This record gives sequence, C-alpha cells and structure tokens, in this order.
Amino acid sequence: MAEEKKLFKITIDNITIDVEPGTTVLQAARRIGGDVTPPAMCYYTHLKGSGGKCRTCLVEVAAGSAADPRPMPKLVASCRTNVMDGMVVKSITSERVLDARAGVVEFLLINHPLDCPICDQAGECDLQDLSYEHGKEGTRYEFRRRTFEKEDIGPYIQLHMTRCILCYRCTYVADQLTDHRLHGILDRGDHSEISTYISKAIDNDFSGNMIDVCPVGALTDRTFRFKNRVWFTKPMDAHRNCDTCCGKVTLWLRGDDVLRVTARKDEWGEVQTYDGKPGWICNECRFHKKHKFDWEIEGLTNINRHSVIGQGKYPGLQMPKETIADVMGGKQPNLLMDIHSISDVNEPEIDLSKIEGPATSKTFNNK
Ligand code: SF4
Ligand code: FES
Repeated sequence: MAEEKKLFKITIDNITIDVEPGTTVLQAARRIGGDVTPPAMCYYTHLKGSGGKCRTCLVEVAAGSAADPRPMPKLVASCRTNVMDGMVVKSITSERVLDARAGVVEFLLINHPLDCPICDQAGECDLQDLSYEHGKEGTRYEFRRRTFEKEDIGPYIQLHMTRCILCYRCTYVADQLTDHRLHGILDRGDHSEISTYISKAIDNDFSGNMIDVCPVGALTDRTFRFKNRVWFTKPMDAHRNCDTCCGKVTLWLRGDDVLRVTARKDEWGEVQTYDGKPGWICNECRFHKKHKFDWEIEGLTNINRHSVIGQGKYPGLQMPKETIADVMGGKQPNLLMDIHSISDVNEPEIDLSKIEGPATSKTFNNK
C-alpha cells in the first residue's frame, strides 16, 4: 500500500490548512485566497527561479514550526519561504507587514512614473492595484528620477524602461520559453536596465508572452498600444487549432473588432494551466489572428468582480451588501472623489450587460 504523504499544517491570519511539504507560504496563502494572500509582483508560478526580487510578498512568521515555535526576527518573502509543520504566519493581521508593503510601494514608485492615464496597462496593472491597496498618498523622494527613451524590441513589443520595476519575469520568459536569450538585465543597482543584446529584435515564436508576464506597463503590445482603454473592451474566451501553442486565448473585443489577443489568466494574473502545462500562446495567435472568424468564441471571460474590467459586463451580478453604513451608525464613508454622483457614464438605468458590444458615447447620448 502506498505510504500516506505527511502534510504540514500552516496557520495564516488565524486560518489553518494542510499543505504538502515543499509548498511555499505564498502558495499556501493562495489556497486560502482572498485578502490573506500577499501580493506578488515578481513571483510567477510557471517561471523557474522567479520570486525574491520585489519584496511585495513579505509576511511575518510568528512561529517558525511546531518543533521550534520561535518567531522569525525579520519579515520574510513568502514566495521564497517554504512551509514548516506548525508554522504560524501573519499577513494582513500584522502591522509590520502592512507598514512594509507601504514602504515597498513607496520604493517601487521612486522611479515608476504615475502615468496611468496614458498607460496601456492601466486597469490591469499589478502596481496600480498595489498602490491603491497599500500605498501612501505622498512620497519622501526629492531627487531626480531616472528616465529612459522608449525602445522597440522587435516588431511587436515596446519597452518603456522608465516603468520597469526589474522583476526579471520577462528575462525568465526569454530564458525558458525562447531558444536563446536576446535580452536581459544590464548593470547593477540604480543603473540596472532591461536591454536587448546588440539591438537584436526578439522574434521568437513565444516572445509575446513577455508582455503578459510584465506586471506593469513596461512591455506593451505594439499592435494594441493606444487603441483603447482595457475597461472599454469586452474579454471573450476563444480557441483555435494551433500547431505551435495551446490555442486557448482571451480576445479583447470592441464591437466586432479584435483589438488584442492575450493568454488566458487565472485569478492571480498568471497564465492558466491545461493538463498540467502552462497555457503560453504563440506570436501567430497573439499578433496575426485579429479577426473574429479566426476564432471559435466560447463566451465572456470570467473577470474578478473587483477588477475595473468586469464592470457592467456580467448580467445577474449579485453585489455584496454594503456594510460600512451599518457599522458606522448609518454614516456613509467619505469618498475621496465620488464620481458616481456626477458622471454621465454611470447611468443606473443603462444595463451595460444587455447592450451589444462595449459602451460608447452613443450609449449615453442617445438615451
Ligand atoms: S520589463 Fe516588465 S517583466 Fe521585464 S523586468 Fe521590467 S517590469 Fe519585469
Ligand atoms: S513576489 Fe515575493 S519577492 Fe516578489
């Protein structure tokens, strides 16, 4: 009889689960899900060696293990720390962790520009979400920020190095998905930058996946740049028979136009897994199949309800009950900027899930 595998118990923010030995604290937290899960800007499940660079996933270990229950003196990167049996971890229940996350956001934003209004990644940017959830309203940085010229790396990808947070994910894609690496990180410290090797274009079949793994808007799809805001598009799951990749994608539609093709992402923003393999897509599917008739459409992509992309797209959506007024004795929270009361694009009588295609100005002007 096969020997029963011993599982390790780990408690994260007072929730206890059993996981296999070798699981990282981050993966254990992802099994629990929700707010307990630390943010992760550089770790990527399907890229070997990723993690340990950005420090956004720091957690407090209140007890190292059942055998040695001493707390760890410093916060640890949950993506690089393996679970021990009886470990007790604090994520959002730790003041130190929340303070550290605010510090990491401040560090990341030292050089990253606040150009979300013109950045193609806005609406699906991990740094935008991180700043919104954990950032402070100000910065203490007074020095000149580093800036770079934009660089086309190959016919399909543009590198906007000023936005790069040096997470290394794209270099792992280049290393692990393409035949030979043509770009990497040069120099050290404040001078570090992503660069192509003697201006060689990245023209490998799978190079487009660098765009999908980039957590910010540093690597963008040149065929989509400035075409649309992502929340005005309608994401649809679609597939085609492809000899090179899994052929399972998300199409980002505006009316009948396919504006962008990406790999399908899971709830952590990583490519979905099919039969145990990551669903990377090839450049042919991503950049050359830009017609609806190239694809068999399966239906609307399931987008997290907290994402701005999902707003108004799903019929029958049950909104959770707003509880703030209850606990504040009937008082409404003070919103910094309550655009809902003044914006014309928030007409409650217009059901965006019932209109054909995404909303345009006509939707509101012809009412
Ligand atoms: S370009 Fe994007 S994926 Fe590459 S290191 Fe910079 S932030 Fe990471
Ligand atoms: S996700 Fe753990 S250090 Fe970046």
